[in-house]
Amino acid sequence: MENEAIRQLAEQIKTSSRVVALTGAGISQESGVPTFRGKDGLWQNFRAEELATPDAFNRDPVLVWQWYDWRRGLIKPLKPNSGHHALVNLEKRVQYFTLVTQNVDGLHRAAGSENPIEMHGTLWRVRCLECKKIFENRDVPIKILPKCEACGGLLRPHVVWFGESLDEKILHTIYTHLQRAQVMLIVGTSGAVQPAASFGIVAKRAGAFVAELNRSNTPQSPLFDLSIQGKAGELLPQLVEHVGR
Ligand code: OAD
Repeated sequence: MENEAIRQLAEQIKTSSRVVALTGAGISQESGVPTFRGKDGLWQNFRAEELATPDAFNRDPVLVWQWYDWRRGLIKPLKPNSGHHALVNLEKRVQYFTLVTQNVDGLHRAAGSENPIEMHGTLWRVRCLECKKIFENRDVPIKILPKCEACGGLLRPHVVWFGESLDEKILHTIYTHLQRAQVMLIVGTSGAVQPAASFGIVAKRAGAFVAELNRSNTPQSPLFDLSIQGKAGELLPQLVEHVGR
């Protein structure tokens, strides 16, 4: 049954030149990155609103940096899994392939995806609060509190926090791709956080064939053309195999 759904999705992809994939924490779960929600969710032990907000950083930048340092340390040794690699292979088979990720772990880039749109930023960049310059930084442990090489200002993680808006240019680019997509894949996201939670609906309204690949059902599953249950690291390689050369 699952195979039949994968085959059906592969047929759609074979006849399409524009495919968008949206990924969430589920795609990195098999690499060992904790997801946000669910029983092993990252936010179970840490309250997001205490740590991933501009207010928290203003109040206690040491605590927030210690938490990011812990996450960076956890993620740095991890490797992309077969799901990340399958998306790299899919990208090679589709004329215009756009990868949008909510993940900040950097594993799509590590796998070799070209220009993934990291809509929530990345753990591996930091931004100066004063001069706004952005720097690559992979230090683990990172010096707490890290300071800007250019102006000496305080650096913060270059990620989107609760209560912050997404970069308008990035959003505009994403919506342009969603409007043009013929097929959209939604992989390993619970659909709990806007605006990513509505991307599938936007693409569907614009005429795309939308398929969800997730270990469990989500509240959005009934809205899509296909909802395929399973692990991303197993389903995506099967999909690529069916798409063929
Ligand atoms: P969640 O933790 O909310 O959801 C993870 C989803 O992945 C769930 O629907 C799981 O069923 C599914 N899943 C888990 N393991 C899987 C696997 N091996 N294969 C396929 N699916 C699997 O994570 P996100 O939806 O990514 O935002 O969360 C969205 C945003 O919430 C994050 O980007 C983050 C957080 O607040 C910011 O930091 C701004």
